[in-house]
Amino acid sequence: MVRSLHVRGWSWRTLWILPFLFLWNYVDGQTRYTIPEELKEGSVVGNIAKDLGLDVADIINRNLRITSESGNQYFTVDLTKGELVVNERIDREKLCEQSDSCVLPLQVVVENPLQLHGIEIDIEDINDNAPEFHTKESALKIYESVTPGKRFLLEKASDPDVGSNSLHSYTLSKNEFFRLNVKSLKDGVKIPELIVEKALDRETKSSHRLVLTALDGGTPPKTGTTVLLVTVQDNNDNEPKFESPLYKTTVNENAKIGHVVIRLKATDLDEGSNGEIEYSFHTHTSDSIKHVFGINSDTGEISVIAALDYEGSKTYAFDVIAKDKGTPELEGNSAVQIDVLDENDNAPEIILKSLPSPVKENAPKGTVVALINVKDLDSGDNGKVELSVSPGLPFALKPSLDKHYSLVTDALLDREVIPEYNVEIIASDFGTPSLKTSKHVKVGVLDVNDNAPVFSQPSYSVFLKENNPAGSSLFSITASDKDQDKNAKLTYSIADSKFQDIPASSYFYINAENGTIYSMNSFDYEKLKLFKITIQATDQGTPSLSSNATVHVFILDQNDNVPVVIYPSATGSVSHQRMPRSAKAGHLVTKVTAVDADSGHNAWVSYSLAEATDSSLFAVNLYTGEVRTKRSVSEQDDASQRLLIEIKDNGEPVQSTTVTVDILIEDGLHEPVSDIRHKASEKDKKNSKITFYLILSLASVSVLSLLTFFILLIRCARSSRDNTSCCLRRDSDGYKNPNRNLQIQLNTDGPIKYVEVLGGDMMSQSQSFGSYLSPMSEFSDLTMVKPSSTLDFKDTLRGLDASLPDSAWTFECQQVR
Ligand SMILES: *[C@@H]1O[C@H](CO)[C@@H](O)[C@H](O)[C@H]1NC(C)=O
Ligand SMILES: *[C@@H]1O[C@H](CO)[C@@H](O)[C@H](O)[C@H]1NC(C)=O
Repeated sequence: MVRSLHVRGWSWRTLWILPFLFLWNYVDGQTRYTIPEELKEGSVVGNIAKDLGLDVADIINRNLRITSESGNQYFTVDLTKGELVVNERIDREKLCEQSDSCVLPLQVVVENPLQLHGIEIDIEDINDNAPEFHTKESALKIYESVTPGKRFLLEKASDPDVGSNSLHSYTLSKNEFFRLNVKSLKDGVKIPELIVEKALDRETKSSHRLVLTALDGGTPPKTGTTVLLVTVQDNNDNEPKFESPLYKTTVNENAKIGHVVIRLKATDLDEGSNGEIEYSFHTHTSDSIKHVFGINSDTGEISVIAALDYEGSKTYAFDVIAKDKGTPELEGNSAVQIDVLDENDNAPEIILKSLPSPVKENAPKGTVVALINVKDLDSGDNGKVELSVSPGLPFALKPSLDKHYSLVTDALLDREVIPEYNVEIIASDFGTPSLKTSKHVKVGVLDVNDNAPVFSQPSYSVFLKENNPAGSSLFSITASDKDQDKNAKLTYSIADSKFQDIPASSYFYINAENGTIYSMNSFDYEKLKLFKITIQATDQGTPSLSSNATVHVFILDQNDNVPVVIYPSATGSVSHQRMPRSAKAGHLVTKVTAVDADSGHNAWVSYSLAEATDSSLFAVNLYTGEVRTKRSVSEQDDASQRLLIEIKDNGEPVQSTTVTVDILIEDGLHEPVSDIRHKASEKDKKNSKITFYLILSLASVSVLSLLTFFILLIRCARSSRDNTSCCLRRDSDGYKNPNRNLQIQLNTDGPIKYVEVLGGDMMSQSQSFGSYLSPMSEFSDLTMVKPSSTLDFKDTLRGLDASLPDSAWTFECQQVR
């Protein structure tokens, strides 16, 4: 601006000078030079000395000089050549602005004579200025909705050059959306206009960078440019668009609340609020869906807001909307399908179709006990169920219809072993992890009469003293039955067996309810020594079962018999014997023999002289009953002697009897040959034989004691010559049962030979039975040795032996004399 004022000042001065110059020229003939501006310093404009008609040689002397109105000395004169030379760069635009012509007047002064010459220098324009825009870059905002043809005025450029060097035209950078129009005003000013050629789309191209070029008319033309930044402004012309027309996803049914199932994404090409999207359910979405899923309107996240249940709903399908915030609002939509994935969240269910029925213990394998149905609400493998029963039980599962099973027996049952089963049925599905359910089913086993009664012992031994009161209770036996109720209710009875042709039931009675046995008679050991009764226990099942047990009733001897003298036979009350007076000491007068119907000790008889006419003459052998003379009979001895011999048994209390023997001592009577002894020894042999058989039969009773019996046999056989009593005793552990032992006694002494088998306590010698062999009743007692009796005897021994376990045999032999 300052520069502009300065230029203007120059213009003003030039105007003042101009009349002079014209005048000067007119007077002297105007000298005018034309030069282009911007000449180099020293460039020669013209030879003013010559042109003004001055002598070059004189100009120094005449002091030629140039004066100018302007302050600047643009020119000087080369005084040696008289040439006008450019002294300083000349800018026409500075000097004359935009005026069409630019003439610089100069005055040439010479002295001697003083002369003033005016010259003019016409400065011609050269194209030294380019067009120029005031702003190098400008912004322009255009709505994308603008219609093609709309014009926008642009800034014009300026070029200080003049004429053809001045601003000539504009061009616009190549662009399909815009074109340029140059409007010429009346004063020739050219104004550029931007015309929208083609509809704009911000979404395609939101800005355009245009370059507007101004050109001048110089040769070559000079240009100036400005950048036009066209910003296309948004209109809400795009609706939000979902990335996909259908969103398909899955969600686990056990998804937690808040779990994001899917994230919707819609885009809106518009900007600002026109492109801000809000997501929502479509208006026609049902409440049941909105109840389960929620949409975050900002982020488009669909999340679970309530518990899912595959079994309730397997899939959800609904529409969603994305809406922008432009005016008017535009919306886009999409569909969503969410499939719920089954989780193994339902345990199998076991349903009993019927209450388990109790089974009979004899039910065949495969009997149906219960009907079972399984259910699992899950699907696929999660809903497949495997059913099993707890192992180790005699039950199995048999599949019938789909998901139906029968619980059947897998083996024979036994109520007596397990009366009730608690069967665990386990259902497990095939999910991962598998879910299990179990149910306990109680299966009762019904009793069947499959167990016979069992006695507490296979056989019993009862010892009963003879002369017992009739009707006394002997013993109680019990049997048990493993079955139940009626099948276990027992009644006792005596099976019919006969003793000496009389049925056992007439000797004994049994209480059918509790098994107490009563004797119905008083027993006499001397008549019956042993009963073998078979007791039957019968249950009340259908059919009933029964068992037998044997009861041995041993009648025990009591000392209830008085010894009976069998020799000498008492005709009347007195026995008469004769003996010679010549008899020496030791003469056998007679032998008293007595027997005792009792047994054992009760039958051991001993003889003693109770009274005698002359006790110094006779002696009675305590054991044999032999009456012998103690000394030789003398003449002084009375011919008639009377002896009272007492015979006692060994019982408790002692029973005794007496025999009176009258002895007549005769002179002349010779000693007779006694055949009694001979006969006796014969009998001894026979008896030893019987004893031997007896031992054999006894030995055969117990294999265990065979050896012992063998020893016994040898010892007895050896000692049978002597008067020996052999005793074989089997003692049990005294600590455990002091009353139990078994004694088998062989008495080979004297005329009475017997085998005595003793059971129980020796001290009380209460229980014994045996067989004795007396000379007089030599075969009477062989009934006991008869095969049938031997069997009884054996049974007795067996019973005794069995009742005496773990005991040791002791052997003892006793010299009687
Ligand atoms: C069996 O019953 C009878 C009569 O009721 C009774 O006297 C007896 O003591 C009972 N025996 C047992 C072992 O209970
Ligand atoms: C029991 O004894 C009776 C009579 O002797 C007989 O008929 C029955 O068969 C026996 N029962 C058993 C199981 O031995």
